[in-house]
Amino acid sequence: MQKFMNYIDGKWQEPSTGRYIPVINPANGAVLGMVAQSSSADVDQAVAAARKAQKEWRLVPAPERAELLFTVGRLLKENKERLAQTITSEMGKVIEEARGEVQEAIDMAHYMAGEGRRMFGETMPSELRNKFAMSIRVPIGIVGLITPWNFPIAIASWKSLPALVTGNALVWKPSPDTPIVAEAFVRIYEKAGLPKGLINLVQGSGPEAGAAMVEHPGIDLIGFTGSNAVGKKINERAGALLKRTSLEMGGKNAIIVMDDANLDLAVESIIWSGFGTSGQRCTAASRVIVHEAIKQRLEDKLIAAVRQLKLGDGHDEATDIGPVINKAVLEKINKYVRVGIDEGARLLCGGKTAEKVGNGKGFYYEPTIFTDVMPDMTIAKEEIFGPVLSIIGVKDLESAIEVNNNVSFGLSSSIFTSDVNRVFRAIRDLDTGIVYINAGTTGAEIHLPFGGTKETGNGHRDSGVAALDVYTEWRAVYVDFSNTLQRAQIDTNTK
Ligand code: UN1
Repeated sequence: MQKFMNYIDGKWQEPSTGRYIPVINPANGAVLGMVAQSSSADVDQAVAAARKAQKEWRLVPAPERAELLFTVGRLLKENKERLAQTITSEMGKVIEEARGEVQEAIDMAHYMAGEGRRMFGETMPSELRNKFAMSIRVPIGIVGLITPWNFPIAIASWKSLPALVTGNALVWKPSPDTPIVAEAFVRIYEKAGLPKGLINLVQGSGPEAGAAMVEHPGIDLIGFTGSNAVGKKINERAGALLKRTSLEMGGKNAIIVMDDANLDLAVESIIWSGFGTSGQRCTAASRVIVHEAIKQRLEDKLIAAVRQLKLGDGHDEATDIGPVINKAVLEKINKYVRVGIDEGARLLCGGKTAEKVGNGKGFYYEPTIFTDVMPDMTIAKEEIFGPVLSIIGVKDLESAIEVNNNVSFGLSSSIFTSDVNRVFRAIRDLDTGIVYINAGTTGAEIHLPFGGTKETGNGHRDSGVAALDVYTEWRAVYVDFSNTLQRAQIDTNTK
């Protein structure tokens, strides 16, 4: 049985605990290997290696650091199919989506490599005559990354690539559900020639290895994507330690369908954003807010479209919807569905596990649609992270926007309409970090800022140029070339 170990200071090694747990293929229950369960001793080692490596790396000119990222991009591209197959095996998403995910990592490598030749600071005039003022970006130091299973390589790339190009060193703990692609990604960094100690892979669980990272005084920043419950815990503890955090968490994303929408396009997009990746995206649509005048027609079309969907192993190109990640998630989805029924929502389709799919050992859930959902019901407020949609009827754009905004999350939202006035009001008023017009809630591109308002995050953005702000500090620099004492705010000519 293959073992997935730690990578510390350029060496693959056993965890200090000697413990491993199985990695399961969610499509059929097969054991794919064993993953290391690290503890604080492994984190200590990883941080020491990172500290040593970062001392030199910060002095490497950014364009040279970027060369390495170009190589990472090329290697990701050469290995795209192999990586995609690995993602489908351990995470379950359908192969076409897995290829798209690897493409996000490739795009990010090239984009961030380009930043190596920009990474702009600013120059500004000084108040004083013979004085020069500028601001430059400097690395934070040691970055701890805690990444999720739903985009095991894309999200890891969104965080590791900007962190490295800006001169940081990393300790990375991927989800224990997806250690295999994490190892493959580290091997690509290794092959690209990344100096040892710059990326340290610590496999293991959140409560053990993840918590040790948050506690570690040698880690300067925690970059986290995952659940709100865990993000809040990280923030509380990191707050007490004054450790920086960049948190990207839940969503309760809605697609608004107005009475002047292209209905067929809206239906296709709802199916894609609601049930793609089995609803396990932070950006997944989980609410459909529809104008009452077309609600019945939309429901009929959605039910017809769901009937066409094929559940199965994501390796099969004909599969539309793969399994969910594990049994606990399957049970959580089922629990939410029961709550929906109990609170009086009307089930249009699905609502149960699909036990007959495959060999009966996979974790499949039928695409599920509720209608007549009221905005204050549990299923309309909490993130389910599964293939479950709630349809909410509204009478006009104002109430659609109000319903959209009246949740504690704010990642992505979407509106289908052909009225340009409605479009611009939606852009102005939808309270989310990402807004789509005539497209579903998924489909973010890596060169735009990714993140959300309210409890979705803590104000930072992954990807885009905004990511540089996460992984650098601003340093203000004053160069006085007067050879005299020039006192700021005092020795100015005007006063
Ligand atoms: C996520 O689910 O956290 O926009 C990432 C999208 C993808 C990324 C999703 N490009 O759905």
